[in-house]
Amino acid sequence: MMQEIPVFKPLITEQEIDAATESLRVGWLGMGAAVGDFEQHLSEYLGLQDRYLVAVSTGHAALHLALMLIDAGSGDEIITPSFNNIADFQAILAVGATPVFCDIDEQTLCIDLNKAEALITSRTKAIIVMDYDCCLADHDQAARLAEHYGIRIIHDAAHSFGSVYKGRKVGTFSDLCMFSFDPVKTITTIDGGALIVRSEAEQRALHEMRLIGMGQPAAVMYENKRAWTYDVQRLGFRYHLANLHAAIGVAQLSKMPTITASRQQVCKRYNEYLGRIPQVQVPQADFNDVTPFLYYIRVAAVHRQPLRDHMKAAGIDTGIHWQPGHHFTLLKDMPKGCLAVTERIAAEILSLPLHSMMSEQYVQRIIESVTQYFEAVND
Ligand SMILES: Cc1ncc(COP(=O)(O)O)c(C=O)c1O
Repeated sequence: MMQEIPVFKPLITEQEIDAATESLRVGWLGMGAAVGDFEQHLSEYLGLQDRYLVAVSTGHAALHLALMLIDAGSGDEIITPSFNNIADFQAILAVGATPVFCDIDEQTLCIDLNKAEALITSRTKAIIVMDYDCCLADHDQAARLAEHYGIRIIHDAAHSFGSVYKGRKVGTFSDLCMFSFDPVKTITTIDGGALIVRSEAEQRALHEMRLIGMGQPAAVMYENKRAWTYDVQRLGFRYHLANLHAAIGVAQLSKMPTITASRQQVCKRYNEYLGRIPQVQVPQADFNDVTPFLYYIRVAAVHRQPLRDHMKAAGIDTGIHWQPGHHFTLLKDMPKGCLAVTERIAAEILSLPLHSMMSEQYVQRIIESVTQYFEAVND
């Protein structure tokens, strides 16, 4: 029987299973020592110097907390690429602010910051700058806009954990930076996320906000203990990470060099072979500085579904990242700029399977399947 190839596949080994089992044996199931440990390992991996990291329950929670931290609320506008994850849009709505949809750059598929600048008004509180897969956004220009207009930047780095921007690791230079460790991400905690901020005061605020506002000192909880008396000074949600998830995260993190190298290698092979097919556009990237989260190609809109069907018949699943935000019923009336590039890309984009330690056989089957489809079309 031919094996089905999924779009995503987590790299779970005995190491994660042992870590999870051990964490259950400890018997402190909620937030505790393993969360502190995970935060420390993450901070060390990223090489954080003047930044402070807080682990949370999901990437969506990190985005929601980032927006709360900057006091975004009713009457505020948050500029975001429409070509983004629903989590970003829902986080904006959750604080009562308005998403303003911006177009993307044709090459990087990240927000077009020249178009974003044209959307800035006196109500603009922040711009969400998201790295789409293997191409990083123009973070220097984002920082210039933030300084010039006095607005905040929320760096959505859900796709770029482990990547390097102009010699600096993603996470080390942004105003606010979030990661996701959901089931399909480069590393997973099953579900989880992190937010990196610039001051200890912001970190302390986040410690309370992720714990339904409870002023429990993190240091106490990181000893698998809790304080029984505390104050509640601010709005919060139950957004903390639990020990079981954090323990899996520590195990995953130790695999990052392997994960990065193996994903880079597959993306390079894809680019080399699929780039020869005239009807296929591959990412404009050499993959040397990134830990790719997904691999996409662009094909003419008329070919996308037939190609997906052809690959499905060969046991290969494909994905669409994403349907743009302004197409959704909930968001269709939100303010927006010209979204011409977004419209075009959304109709053409197709994610191919990308796993850590993906087998050579899988890679060959996928390349052959795409090649066969276009050979048949040319006949
Ligand atoms: C760009 C981006 N931002 C945010 C999120 C939300 O992260 P989570 O699934 O951990 O809530 C995702 C998840 O896929 C994402 O791709």
